[in-house]
Amino acid sequence: MKTVLSGMRPTGKLHLGHLEGVLKSYIDMQDTYRAFYMVADWHALTTNYESPEMTGDNTLEMFKDWLSVGISPDKAVMFVQSAVSEHAELFLLLSMLTPVPWLERNPTYKEQRQELSGKDLSTFGFLGYPVLMAADILVYRAEVVPIGEDQRPHLELAREMVRRFNNLYGNFFPEPQEILTKYPKLPGIDGRKMSKSYNNAIYLTDDEKTVNDKASKMFTDPAKIRKNDPGHPENCVVCAFHRIYNAAACETVEAECKSGARGCVDCKKQVAVKINERLAPIRLKRAEIDKDPGMITGLIASGNAKAKAAAGETMKNVRKLMKLA
Ligand code: TRP
Ligand code: SF4
Repeated sequence: MKTVLSGMRPTGKLHLGHLEGVLKSYIDMQDTYRAFYMVADWHALTTNYESPEMTGDNTLEMFKDWLSVGISPDKAVMFVQSAVSEHAELFLLLSMLTPVPWLERNPTYKEQRQELSGKDLSTFGFLGYPVLMAADILVYRAEVVPIGEDQRPHLELAREMVRRFNNLYGNFFPEPQEILTKYPKLPGIDGRKMSKSYNNAIYLTDDEKTVNDKASKMFTDPAKIRKNDPGHPENCVVCAFHRIYNAAACETVEAECKSGARGCVDCKKQVAVKINERLAPIRLKRAEIDKDPGMITGLIASGNAKAKAAAGETMKNVRKLMKLA
């Protein structure tokens, strides 16, 4: 069995964009891989070090989101990065052999520093983000890593660190391969990318009424003003949701929209029903989880212990290869 590792920063609750993207790969891969799924709380601190209290609460919420969509602790090791100090040790050792210019050249680093210009990110920790991420992956000797497009430069850096390590100390780490999560075209309700920071997301924890509300606010074809105006479904957010959550009827929706037989108000109501159908079992599962807070604490502790055991094995070998105690 090959090993997969992936992580998500606990910066807020998860939404449909996550569900139809990265969470799908998590769920698919837990059956056929030795799977490690990590809440990357140290990575969250690289940008949120001024408000650490957020990270703690979000970590618990993230576990609940994961469980509610069907990631199973019987199949995957679910754990918290900061509970496995071996990641920090490997981060330190990898930093010995990582040239600073590799990190400064990283396009994601440059973009993020510009985007988050309100924060002081001239820190050592933020520059070292990809080194920590490489440590996360390598400490389980993971072969595959499902990630989003923005994380590709980080994975390339991880491979460069592997090549350098293997050259210097002996062939030990596999070069991790990325699996790009194939996001279907799921926009936010305003047509931009679904994202917490755009305030356009539908969350896994949204109740039925909230979903109805958000669906009613989705952006539609601006050329379709009256019910009987012919519309252009390709320009419509509602249609994009029909494509994913109402696939069987999607052709009808498009044809009726184009011919003017369909009005936007009804169209939105229908799509809300479908989104609510998708979320119903997730809501049920979550209600079950919330009934038993002890269960989740136990589960996190046991995931952390399993991760620590696996990471500890790797570190024994790394220390030997690097002539350390
Ligand atoms: N940097 C990733 C993100 O923001 C999260 C992450 C941390 C990660 N460590 C990882 C992803 C290791 C894959 C593998 O999305
Ligand atoms: Fe969009 Fe439906 Fe209105 Fe067509 S009828 S523009 S698909 S909401």
